[in-house]
Amino acid sequence: MKVVGMLMVSALLALASSFATAYDPSPLQDFCVGINDADSAVVVNGKLCKNPSFATADDFSYSGLNVPGNTSTQLRAHVNLITADLMPGLNTLGVSLARIDFEPNGGLNPPHYHPRASEVLLVLEGTLYAGFVTSNPDHRLFSKILKPGDLFVFPFGLVHFQMNVGKTPAVAIAALTSQNPGVNTVANAIFGANWPINPEVLTTAFHLDKKLVEDLQSQEWVNPS
Ligand SMILES: *[C@@H]1O[C@H](CO)[C@@H](O)[C@H](O)[C@H]1NC(C)=O
Repeated sequence: MKVVGMLMVSALLALASSFATAYDPSPLQDFCVGINDADSAVVVNGKLCKNPSFATADDFSYSGLNVPGNTSTQLRAHVNLITADLMPGLNTLGVSLARIDFEPNGGLNPPHYHPRASEVLLVLEGTLYAGFVTSNPDHRLFSKILKPGDLFVFPFGLVHFQMNVGKTPAVAIAALTSQNPGVNTVANAIFGANWPINPEVLTTAFHLDKKLVEDLQSQEWVNPS
């Protein structure tokens, strides 16, 4: 009886720890400022960190998100994502932040997902139609019209989008639960793959005729940035 109880406890613990390890571990130190120069570095978790004695306030700071992004882009929107590459103090901390600008009447942050992060979006200006779609088998769409002051959360790894449905410019701030969330823009990955995916794959997968697939593959798929 005792042995069975112990086995059950260890099975439960194993289950609990397997859930915990589905996420980035908590940092083992106060900070680990990313650095390229190996000479002034110590190593934590396999990544170079600046020697803490040499860290400065600038390592933990970034300026310029008050400036609107240039929305003269294919999708009439601009995403300025500040990751650990641009703000080295973010290294190992598991957060990052973006400013997104949208032109009036349809500026679009197209369907995409972050392979390593959930996201909370805060609308500062304008009117956004935002949503996400759940994974197989249901593909439920959760969407909403957002106004200044509204928040919307996009769960980890799910396809999501925002479009300006107002007649004025829109601005939003997105906070992400990774120092390097990654972005996969769905249409670009599929139709802009390099090298191109065999059209037969996309013809069948997307219920399109081959000519349309080849036309789509010949277009330019510019990533939002
Ligand atoms: C915005 O980007 C477009 C296209 O790249 C460029 O022609 C234009 O000069 C840029 N505008 C500003 C204000 O930088």
